Amino acid sequence: MRFILAVSAMLVALATGATPSHAEGNVKEGAKKFEIRCSACHTVEQGGIDKVGPNLFGVIGATAGKRAFSFELRHSKEMKESGIVWNDETLHGFLEDPGKYLPGTKMPFVGFRKKPDRDDVIAYLKSATK
Ligand code: HEC
Repeated sequence: MRFILAVSAMLVALATGATPSHAEGNVKEGAKKFEIRCSACHTVEQGGIDKVGPNLFGVIGATAGKRAFSFELRHSKEMKESGIVWNDETLHGFLEDPGKYLPGTKMPFVGFRKKPDRDDVIAYLKSATK
């Protein structure tokens, strides 16, 4: 019985193309998480204000610390010189543990240690910052 359940779960996973390493985030959930965990310091819309952290419009595909709306003076030297390009992989690394991924960063965020939280917020960022 267990075996049959396991096999059917696998078939469902195959049929929906759901593999853990490529889980798609949920934009709606991401918006809520962003509101609670990020919006105190960041806006996402074009021309949005910089708060403690830089406005994030256009951040996907941009080089860390180099966008026009960013807070020139407040970006850490480490961020500006990192050469990081923001994509799925780098955002996962940074948002999981900012200080470990980029020692010296001025982003005082403890990190989303759970991958589904990062998947959701990254999905939201992709849809809201372009
Ligand atoms: C308490 C304020 C604060 C919170 C909360 C915060 N950030 Fe930040 N964020 C910053 C600061 C400050 C920087 C600039 C860091 C640096 O230059 O080292 C930054 C930088 C960034 C960058 C790089 C921007 C660039 O111009 O290259 C991204 C992406 C980012 N934050 C996303 C997020 C997300 C997503 C969340 C929520 C999960 C979040 N931040 C939560 C303050 C914050």
